[in-house]
Amino acid sequence: MEKASEFGNQLHVVRHPLVQQKLSAARDAQSSNATFRHLLCEIAMLMAFEITREYPTRPVEVRTPLGIARGAVLESEITLVPILRAGLGMADGVLQLIPQARIGHLGIYRDETSLEPVVYYNKLPPNVADTEVIVIDPMLATGGSCTVAISAVKAAGAARIKLLCLVAAPEGIRHMHAAHPDVAVYTAAVDERLNEHGYIVPGLGDAGDRIFGTE
Ligand code: PRP
Ligand code: URA
Repeated sequence: MEKASEFGNQLHVVRHPLVQQKLSAARDAQSSNATFRHLLCEIAMLMAFEITREYPTRPVEVRTPLGIARGAVLESEITLVPILRAGLGMADGVLQLIPQARIGHLGIYRDETSLEPVVYYNKLPPNVADTEVIVIDPMLATGGSCTVAISAVKAAGAARIKLLCLVAAPEGIRHMHAAHPDVAVYTAAVDERLNEHGYIVPGLGDAGDRIFGTE
């Protein structure tokens, strides 16, 4: 995994070959909605492995058929917070790896003209402050949506937060890092730029539309 220096240790680009192969297939404009959805799920599962790598554990003893083994369990509960809609497509994959996670939902869409985020739904678990939080959205474009999402989970008391995305624009990473320098960003790619409509280039198009077949 590569750490990009401009953002210190707060930007993690997951270069694992399986992630990169699946991302390349997901970017392909010819991929069907079903294929795209499946790939996002698989990539999210692989990236969840990286994002949880340094979560604290506590020791446990387990009675095996032959004796006592020393093992470990996660110290804290995990809360996944997908940003609706597109975050749902990745949350499914993370849940396959962490089925015990709680899930909070944040509904946010970008105003098409101003590109400003509009929050329309907020339902977080009550104990989010005591948990490791992973905010999930495949696209970090201007960074507006993720930035307000992270403000919302902080307002609910969360202090240990990471952002899981798939493709990020440099503008979005800068926005995120300026607003929330304490939050590490995990992405599979940092693309060139945003176009005049605020879309990531080359990106993969509109993630929500490709997941849900609404284009
Ligand atoms: C997309 C995407 C992010 C946001 C990224 O959502 O899933 O949430 O745009 O853009 P930003 O970094 O400039 O804020 P969209 O607004 O299209 O909503 P949808 O997922 O409901 O389609
Ligand atoms: N939202 C998307 O789904 N794709 C982009 O490129 C930018 C915002």
